[in-house]
Amino acid sequence: MNAMTKISSASADSSATEVRFPNESIVVSSTDPRGVIQFANQTFCDVAGYSVDELLNAPHKIVRHPDMPKGVFYLLWDCLKSGMPVCTYVKNKTKSGGYYWVLAVVTQTENGFLSARIRPSTELFEATKEIYATLLDEEKRENLSPEQSSARLIEMLKDAGYPTLESYGIEALNLEFKARGIIAPDLSSSFLLMDELAEIISDMQGLVNSIEQGFERVRGEPVNLRILAGRLEGAGAALGTISQNYDAMAKEMHSLVGRLHDPENGSLVQMYSAVSQGRWSMQIAQLLNEAHGNIAPDDTATDGAVLLKEHHERLHQRSRARLIEISSIGKSIPDICRSLRRRINGLDVVKLLCKVESGRMRDVDSGLDGIIARLENFHDNTDRHLADLSAKASQVTQKGSAL
Ligand SMILES: Cc1cc2nc3c(=O)[nH]c(=O)nc-3n(C[C@H](O)[C@H](O)[C@H](O)COP(=O)(O)O)c2cc1C
Repeated sequence: MNAMTKISSASADSSATEVRFPNESIVVSSTDPRGVIQFANQTFCDVAGYSVDELLNAPHKIVRHPDMPKGVFYLLWDCLKSGMPVCTYVKNKTKSGGYYWVLAVVTQTENGFLSARIRPSTELFEATKEIYATLLDEEKRENLSPEQSSARLIEMLKDAGYPTLESYGIEALNLEFKARGIIAPDLSSSFLLMDELAEIISDMQGLVNSIEQGFERVRGEPVNLRILAGRLEGAGAALGTISQNYDAMAKEMHSLVGRLHDPENGSLVQMYSAVSQGRWSMQIAQLLNEAHGNIAPDDTATDGAVLLKEHHERLHQRSRARLIEISSIGKSIPDICRSLRRRINGLDVVKLLCKVESGRMRDVDSGLDGIIARLENFHDNTDRHLADLSAKASQVTQKGSAL
């Protein structure tokens, strides 16, 4: 308990004392499926001020602080039940009526749940305290049910730039890790690789955006061709057909490109989510590994030590599985790019027909040359972007299988 500091707080309850534990300490507990404590490490006992016997078999709400909105726990259980890890800030109460803040990571184990908590220190933590205070106020004022409060919380997180609790948790753990500056040396190259993968996937997203913008820019050209065909009357009949062909082929290609980043099942979206989940699992694994290292030999926690070690290994495997997934999605993209590039050849043929028509109408200032030049430019750019996309996908496959 020597490294623990007690600080008088000027917050909600001025008599309450904040317990601040050292940066490197990790508060660990495990529970059964209903949240009844099965294991508590010495740090948990020291920070919360309970003996291990008082904590074992007690419901976890033994440390629940009244400043915590109900909606947070509703959402926590909702996510846990769906098998997702949860990472969020929690204010807890100590036995003597003080409090301590943690960033808690809770994951599912074979027999229940496991939570590892670190001392928070980031700006996101400060922002979250404000969100909780507003939510608690709304809960009381509007008499919100836990479910209604959790829906409000989701809205507030969205407003703060986090579309899901998962994206918020990933960011929170990432920021706290950075602030602590602790990355296990044997993992630093894995984190680096994950970051590189995320960057390549984001470049791929940029290329897909550029290709789509190209399609949007030339969308008007078939219409221009049709207008021209109308102006030329009988002489422009061929152009009318050419414009229809071009329009149909370009629309089909555009929709194929769009599928790459479809929010439901687009390859890029799946790869991005796999890389951030893989990184998250690896971070949680590191936390559990550190917590395992924290357990003193005389800690009452042999079971806990085994649990931490096993779960650490499981999360590592999960992280590796996500990388294999990224790698295999990456493998499918060069084929898609090849097929799209073949379609550009098709568009080129249609453009050539335009050129033939332009040659036949040498004496008429039809504006056809300008249309052809714009299509040519679009075909070249799209082909180049697709070649880059394919090369980046191969890089992802290669890097993803390197871990
Ligand atoms: C592994 C695990 C760890 C938990 N840790 C905490 C905690 O540190 N503080 C807390 O208030 N609730 C924690 N909970 C949630 C509690 O079980 C409970 O839902 C919460 O205290 C709200 O209690 P109430 O719904 O009865 O008000 C944890 C749950 C699990 C499964």
